[in-house]
Amino acid sequence: TTDPVVIMKQEVGKAAADRVQSNSIVGLGTGSTTAYAIQYIGERLQKGELTNIVGVPTSFQAEVLAKKYGIPLTTLDAVTHIDVAIDGADEVDPHKNLIKGGGAAHTREKVVDSLANQFIVVVDSGKLVDKLGSTFLLPVEVIPMAVTPVMNKLEQLGGKPELRMGIKKAGPVVTDQGNLVIDVKFESIDNPAELEKTINNMPGVLENGLFVGVADVILVGEIIDGKPSVK
Ligand code: A5P
Repeated sequence: TTDPVVIMKQEVGKAAADRVQSNSIVGLGTGSTTAYAIQYIGERLQKGELTNIVGVPTSFQAEVLAKKYGIPLTTLDAVTHIDVAIDGADEVDPHKNLIKGGGAAHTREKVVDSLANQFIVVVDSGKLVDKLGSTFLLPVEVIPMAVTPVMNKLEQLGGKPELRMGIKKAGPVVTDQGNLVIDVKFESIDNPAELEKTINNMPGVLENGLFVGVADVILVGEIIDGKPSVK
């Protein structure tokens, strides 16, 4: 490929996969960037460079990819901890706070990523923002019968909510848990920690895509003078 965004995603996915050590439990994130990390972890396993790895998937997509690339899987009932989680993000601010959920997987992602001793975020440089919410809508997973009251409450908070609709499907996007997603535009998210709690406190909301104080390491794929690198 010659697409610079794809090249950045591949490089950063590889850099994250290189940080995984043998004998560890690895949280496997969702999205097109993490997909490369899963692929490279699988390749390192097949080469014998890594041994005794078990993955905890954050979505149906992660599960399918892990199986494709030969990474054994487990569940949170069967492990006592997660050593490292690798996951993408839709926006990253200078305090390592994130918006996630572009793939509607943020609920399971937050469970797995926040349990990890080390959570590594993999993004291309286009995801870096000064302030969360400046380029991306905030995803909120909600149980279906609560969609209308939750949308009303989000409007009262100053947001512009819309129900996420499917692209190759008639009707709304349904999450891996059978719920719906409301995407909310906020003019400015001044206090992400407070907004995360306020939204999660609305009856019927399962989880929103603000990840505050969860990420440990941000790996950024970039292209400088035509050459891909990771910082
Ligand atoms: C999934 O719900 C998201 O949180 C993804 O991790 C996020 O959208 C990043 O995906 P890409 O790497 O495909 O941009």
